[in-house]
Amino acid sequence: MGLVTLKEILSESIEKKYAVGAFDTMNPLMTEAILSAAEEAGKPLILMQIDAMFDLRSDHDVYFKNIRNMIDRTTVPICLMLDHGASYEHCIRAIHYGFSSVMFDGSMLPFEENVRQTKQIVRAAHACGVSVEAEIGHVGGLEAESDPNGSEVDESAYSEPALAQQFAEQTGIDAMAIAFGTVHGKYRGVPKLDYQRLATIRKMVDIPLVMHGGSGVPEDGFRNAVSNGINKINICTQMIQTASERMLRAAEPCEGRRVGFPELYAIAQEAVKDVVKTHMDVFGTQPLTLKQAPAYFGERR
Ligand code: 13P
Repeated sequence: MGLVTLKEILSESIEKKYAVGAFDTMNPLMTEAILSAAEEAGKPLILMQIDAMFDLRSDHDVYFKNIRNMIDRTTVPICLMLDHGASYEHCIRAIHYGFSSVMFDGSMLPFEENVRQTKQIVRAAHACGVSVEAEIGHVGGLEAESDPNGSEVDESAYSEPALAQQFAEQTGIDAMAIAFGTVHGKYRGVPKLDYQRLATIRKMVDIPLVMHGGSGVPEDGFRNAVSNGINKINICTQMIQTASERMLRAAEPCEGRRVGFPELYAIAQEAVKDVVKTHMDVFGTQPLTLKQAPAYFGERR
C-alpha cells in the first residue's frame, strides 16, 4: 500500500480506540527491520527519523529515496515522519525529501510562540498535503540520558487541558503530543502516568493524541493510555536496548567461535522486529480500512 500521511494512518484510531506505533529509525538496517515487522503483522506503522539525525549524514537525496522505495514496496500503510523537528526550516527540509508528515517540537517555547510557529508550519505543510504533529506541555528525558538511573518526570511540565484545547484549536494540527508522565529514554523507577489528565484532554479535543517516551512503559500502562485516549505511541530506546543486549550476548566468544558481522546485523534486525511487533500487539493496532483512497497514494515526485 505504501506511503500515507499521519492524518490518514490515525484516521480510524479514535473511533476504534487503538494506537499506531511510531518507531525511530537510525539506519537502513533498522528501517528494513521496522518495515518488515509491519509487513509481517499486516498492520500500519509510522516510521520516524529524528531531526537531529539529519546532521549525521550528507547523502540525504539517496538516503531518503531509498527509504521511500522501501516504503513503496510494502503492502501495508506506512507514514514517514520527521520526529522532533526543531524549526520551520527543518520541517520544510523533511517535506522536500518526501516525508508525508512532520512533528514540530516547540514544547520549550512560551505558549503564544509555540502557537505562532506551529501555525506557520501547519500552513506550509498542509499546502503540500503533509500532516503535522506538535507538542503542548513538555516530555523531558534524553538530556539526562547519561544518568544510569534514568530521568525524573517533571510534573510541572505536564499538559494543561485548557491550554491543550486552545493549542489544538488555534494551530490546526493533525495530532497533538501531550505530557502526562512519560520521559524520553530511561525512567527513574516505574513510570506513573496521569490517566485522569489524559482522559480530560481526550474529552476536550477531537484530534489524535500522542505519547512520547514509550520505552519502559509497562504493558498495562500502554493499555490504560490507549483506553484513555492515546492514538500514537513513540518508541526508540527499547529497540536500541534490546538489539544491543542481544548483540553483546551473541558476541561473547563461545568455544573459541566468534560470530561475524552479518550474524550480528541479523540478530539486531530480529531484535528490532520483535520489539516493533510486540508493541503493535499491545497497542491494539488494527489494519486500516480506509473508506476512500488516501490522498497520499501514488507518485508524488
Ligand atoms: P523513547 O526513546 O523513550 O522510546 O522515546 C521515543 C520518542 O518519544 C521519540 O519521539
